[in-house]
Amino acid sequence: MKAISRLTAAISIASLLPLSALAGQVEVLHWWTSGGEKRAADTLQKLVEAKGHTWKDFAVAGGGGEAAMTVLKTRAVSGNPPAAAQIKGPDIQEWGELGLLADLDDVAKAAEWDKLLPKQVADIMKYDGSYVAVPINVHRVNWLWINPEVFKKAGATPPTTLEEFFAAADKLKAAGFIPLAHGGQPWQDGTVFEDLVFAILGADGYHKAFVEQDKATLTGDKMVEVFATLKKLHGYIDADAAGRDWNSATALLINGKAGMQIMGDWAKSEWSAANKVAGQDYQCLPFPGTQGSFAYNIDSLAMFKLADAENRKAQEDLARTVLEPEFQQFFNQNKGSIPVRQDQDMSQFDSCAQQSMRDFKEAAKGNGLQPSLAHGMAASSYVQGAVFDVVTNFFNDPDADPKKAAQQLAAAIQAVQ
Ligand code: BGC
Repeated sequence: MKAISRLTAAISIASLLPLSALAGQVEVLHWWTSGGEKRAADTLQKLVEAKGHTWKDFAVAGGGGEAAMTVLKTRAVSGNPPAAAQIKGPDIQEWGELGLLADLDDVAKAAEWDKLLPKQVADIMKYDGSYVAVPINVHRVNWLWINPEVFKKAGATPPTTLEEFFAAADKLKAAGFIPLAHGGQPWQDGTVFEDLVFAILGADGYHKAFVEQDKATLTGDKMVEVFATLKKLHGYIDADAAGRDWNSATALLINGKAGMQIMGDWAKSEWSAANKVAGQDYQCLPFPGTQGSFAYNIDSLAMFKLADAENRKAQEDLARTVLEPEFQQFFNQNKGSIPVRQDQDMSQFDSCAQQSMRDFKEAAKGNGLQPSLAHGMAASSYVQGAVFDVVTNFFNDPDADPKKAAQQLAAAIQAVQ
C-alpha cells in the first residue's frame, strides 16, 4: 500500500474514535511550500485534524527558512506567536532565553522521548533541562543527486571524488547539458560551500571551522582551496541560476536538462512527488569526498506558551503525534528525510533513506556526524548569516580572490560572535 493510502486508512480509523472533549487550534509556522514538502506537511495536518483539532497553516515560502524566521520574529515581538514554529538547532536556546517557549516535559515523559532519541538530539530540544521542542526528522545535507539517464547520454561516470566530479561535469557540459543545477540564493550557495568544506577539510576540519570557529582553520590553506574549488564550480552552472528556487533546480534534473544537483535530501521530496524511483530514475550519492560522513539537519517544532487550555491541549497532541511511528513513517517518506526515532522500522523506506540511516548510525560512532552550518545546526543564525554573505559575494564575483575570501570569512564570523 502506498504511504498516502496507508495514511488515509490510519486516519479513518482515528476518526471513528470519540473526539477529545478539548479540541483546540494549532497554528504552525513552517516553510514547506514546494510540491514535495507540502505533501509531507499535509501528513502532519491530517493526523492533527484526526485528533479533533483545527490546523491553522502558517506557511512562509522561502527555502532554508530565512523569510519564515523574519516573520516569526515580527509575530513574537507583537506578543502573538504561533503555537508551533519550525525553529532549529542553537536558535531554540535563544528563543528559550526569551522565556517564550512552552514546557513539553509531561508529553515527553509519558512517551519516553529520552529513550527514543539520541542524546545529542534530545539536548538540542531542551532548554534549561526541559523539552521545549520536538524533533521531526534527520535530513542529510551532503548529498549529490544525479540523473543516470543524462549521465548515460553524456558518457559520464557517477563521481566519488571531487576530481571525478569535475570530470563528469566536463562530459555533461560537452554533451550540451547543464552540468550542475543550482539556485543562486545565499542559503543554496552556503549549502554547496559547506559540502566542499566537508570534502576538503574532512570531518575534523569541518568541526574546527564551523563548530569551534577556529581562526587558523578558517583562514588556512585548505579553506583557500575550498574557495578556489567553489570558483571552479561556478563554471558549471547555467546563466539563469540567479535567484532560482531549489525545487526548480531539482526540476531541471527531473526533466533531463541537468545532470547533477548538490542539495540536502529534501530534494528527494520533489522526485517522490513526480513518482520517480530512487536508484532507478535518480541516484543519491554521498557528496564526493564525504563518504561515511554525515552533515545533519534536524527539523524541529518549538512550542510557544499559550494561554488557552484547549489550544494548549492541541499543541501537546501535535507534539505527541510528531514522535509517533506512524507520523515518522508517512512524513519522512514524503519529505526525503529519515526518522529521528532510532527504533523505526526502515523496511518501507527507499534505498536512499536506508543508506542515510545506515550512514547516520555509522558516522555517529566516530566523528563523522557533524551539524550543518548552512541549515542552522552548527552555530547561531548570526554566524550562519555572516558565512552566507561572504560565500555569496565571493561566488558572484568572478574577480574575487580565494585567499582574501578565507580572511573575510574569519573576520565576518568573529564580528558576530
Ligand atoms: C529545512 C528543510 C527544507 C529545506 C528547504 C531546510 O533548511 O530543514 O525542511 O525542506 O530547508 O526549504
